[in-house]
Amino acid sequence: MATASLVSAALKRLEGKVALITGGASGIGEATARLFSQNGAKVVIADIQDDQGHSVCQELHKSSASYVHCDVTNEKDIENAVNTTVSKYGKLDIMFNNAGILGVNNTNILEYKLSDFQQVINVNVLGVFLGTKHAARVMIPAKRGSIINTASICGSIGGVASHAYTSSKHAVVGLTRNTAVELGAAGVRVNCVSPYLVATPLAKKYFNLDEDECLSIYSNLKGANLLPKEVAEAALYLGSDESKYVSGHSLVIDGGFTIVNNGFCVFGQSV
Ligand SMILES: NC(=O)c1ccc[n+]([C@@H]2O[C@H](COP(=O)([O-])OP(=O)(O)OC[C@H]3O[C@@H](n4cnc5c(N)ncnc54)[C@H](O)[C@@H]3O)[C@@H](O)[C@H]2O)c1
Repeated sequence: MATASLVSAALKRLEGKVALITGGASGIGEATARLFSQNGAKVVIADIQDDQGHSVCQELHKSSASYVHCDVTNEKDIENAVNTTVSKYGKLDIMFNNAGILGVNNTNILEYKLSDFQQVINVNVLGVFLGTKHAARVMIPAKRGSIINTASICGSIGGVASHAYTSSKHAVVGLTRNTAVELGAAGVRVNCVSPYLVATPLAKKYFNLDEDECLSIYSNLKGANLLPKEVAEAALYLGSDESKYVSGHSLVIDGGFTIVNNGFCVFGQSV
């Protein structure tokens, strides 16, 4: 029995840690909330989908999960989410700035409205900026912490989504790098996860695909599917002490999609 409980403690890679997850009511954030909780973390979900956020928390262990309403574009909301986390659980170890939107599906710059572009930048870039700022406010005095942002393969290549989305994810990678430099001096790590297409409500709606269609989209890596859990596993690594010397990194989860160019490839991958 003693051995079994030692093994189970060793498997809980976030035991004793406190995590705040924006966009935790759905998709990648929800999968991460579940995985973090299974790994022993206290989890606070911050989202604008209140009913869904509460219902995810109810499925997690009652004493270790809570929900706070938070629009990441609103600094007061972010400030409150961080303060609520600290007052409830005593500290903040992991900030997962994951909330994001794809915005309108428009590939014509002449028809792309300024307000549509701004909306994507507000959520995807300003939301990450505000989340990083307020997490840093409590992590700097603690001299530790792991900030994880959700970027995308659209943070390194063009042509996969709208101008606004691609711009926003390039900015998230840039902000990750810059803040990793500043906050490294305080012992705080900043990294991002950069997934390929994941069958979440966001992607299904934008590309007008169902779950199976999402999974059958071109993949360089055969025999495996990219599910929200796979991104959560990457966030788990970046949030845990296993990655204690990793900072400023974009952990790409794309099965090799961004390192191959099928326009000129000697391996015939496109068949
Ligand atoms: N699904 C993909 O293919 C994919 C690929 C790469 C990156 N991403 C990124 O992953 C992140 C999560 O997206 P997902 O695919 O899980 O989508 P999702 O729609 O399932 O989840 C996004 C969550 O963010 C929340 N949210 C949206 N705007 C918000 C705001 N202003 N304040 C607080 N919460 C807000 C939503 O309510 C939702 O719960 C996003 O940053 C997205 O850009 C997704």
